[in-house]
Amino acid sequence: MESLCIVRASPCVSSSSSLSSKTSSLSCAPSCRVILNPIKKHHNLAAFQPAFHLFASTQSGPHGSKRNHTARIFLPHLVASMEEVEETYIMIKPDGVQRGLVGEIISRFEKKGFKLTGLKLFQCPKELAEEHYKDLQSKSFFPKLIDYITSGPVVCMAWEGIGVVASARKLIGATNPLNAEPGTIRGDLAVQTGRNVVHGSDSPENGKREIALWFKEGELSSWTPAQQPWLTE
Ligand code: RTP
Ligand code: MG
Repeated sequence: MESLCIVRASPCVSSSSSLSSKTSSLSCAPSCRVILNPIKKHHNLAAFQPAFHLFASTQSGPHGSKRNHTARIFLPHLVASMEEVEETYIMIKPDGVQRGLVGEIISRFEKKGFKLTGLKLFQCPKELAEEHYKDLQSKSFFPKLIDYITSGPVVCMAWEGIGVVASARKLIGATNPLNAEPGTIRGDLAVQTGRNVVHGSDSPENGKREIALWFKEGELSSWTPAQQPWLTE
């Protein structure tokens, strides 16, 4: 027997937490019929395309006018990829700031299509630098690294997106800029490991940890970029 689910789908997709709560509300039997009951939000934005088609097929009538949202259940692979929305902490190190590379570096992440959720210029105290790089405490270069990171202001950023942690590391390039591929930030803009202009979290867990370390509550923004419908299906 066919079952019936009423699903409320908001077109405003802005954070990983809202995504996971939304996807969990869709976990019903594959045979059940879904009726989408959209929350009317942001319908004044002309470019906005609701995300309904991620969850159900939309059939147009013969003249393209009649829409039928009583359709197939969501596509599991799309839901899986939506669950991979991550956060990463990106920091332009003091050499990047001193060399006037702030705009260039931010634009690489912007152009890629990730969402900026936090941004500030900040003079890092020694204790914070030590906490941030605590995994490297035993390394011989640790004191030099702390001196470097605290030698001038840094630009702290939080970025959000599907797969953003690994992708940002690719955009940044190898730790030693001489080994970094051309086209990467370090590959294009730096020559030495000790002056490699930018930091990026190395795992989703560290992304969360580092954002919590560098940003206070209220310094992060949850928002929906106008370009979102042009970046993701
Ligand atoms: P980051 O954490 O800054 O994004 O760099 P990473 O993951 O590519 O490299 P990691 O091993 O985490 O090292 C952190 C930073 O320490 C400095 N370093 N110096 N002299 C050296 O041998 C050496 N090795 C690492 C670099 O500034 C490196 O980015
Ligand atoms: Mg690292």
